[in-house]
Amino acid sequence: MKMDERVFDDLDALSRAALAELQRIAREAVRQGGPFTIALAGGRTPAKLYSLWSQTDAKAAGAPWDRVHLFWGDERYVDHHDLLSNYRMAREALVSHVPIPAENIHPMPTDCAAPEDCAAEYEANLRKFFGDKPPAFDLQLLGLGPEGHTASLFPGSAAIEERIRWVLAVEAAATPHQRLTLTPVVLNQCRNTWFLVAGADKRQIIQALRGQDENTRDASPYPAARLQPAGSVLWFLDRAAAL
Ligand code: 6PG
Repeated sequence: MKMDERVFDDLDALSRAALAELQRIAREAVRQGGPFTIALAGGRTPAKLYSLWSQTDAKAAGAPWDRVHLFWGDERYVDHHDLLSNYRMAREALVSHVPIPAENIHPMPTDCAAPEDCAAEYEANLRKFFGDKPPAFDLQLLGLGPEGHTASLFPGSAAIEERIRWVLAVEAAATPHQRLTLTPVVLNQCRNTWFLVAGADKRQIIQALRGQDENTRDASPYPAARLQPAGSVLWFLDRAAAL
């Protein structure tokens, strides 16, 4: 399938380039009078970008923290203090270092009687913020698993086929198994979608996605190939993944 790839020597260079582009999008969103809304990815790859972002002068960059709203694309169904929590990763790399108002931070809740209740709660939170149309974030960050999962949409998951609900509780073929994820109903709305992919362990899946027939991607075994966001889709790759 067609992939607009930006290849960088290493994760540091990838993260610095992504930060510059993120700040451009954020500045433009603020200039147009809105907040800058971003859906953060979990896993390890985006941590460097978040850390670099935390060290910038947001006001000078044109997107002061009181105009930035952080959302999450998926979450492991663990306590927010758990080492495996995507919220914890972003809090340690970014949130705890910047003067972003608490009301601008929108983590996926993981403290309900059942994960499905938290999925419904997050959808209600999104509706409260964006209204009743599936939201189009200004920017959404996505990672990629070696078998083609993205967010917490894993191969064979019914969540990939979801056409109504915005957030689902899913069982993932990864630890921890229980997760919450945005569904394609939301993920396909976004104006700017970036896949951040680094490391030699992603080389094979990148090659598989490159070889994915554009005409059959609707039936692709790789969830990352099944998403077709409305706006631009960029692949930020390090050389190890892109070879
Ligand atoms: C998660 C992520 C997941 C992640 C990929 C890549 O909760 O794990 O949202 O989709 O982005 O698994 O993870 P790495 O960046 O750690 O390789």
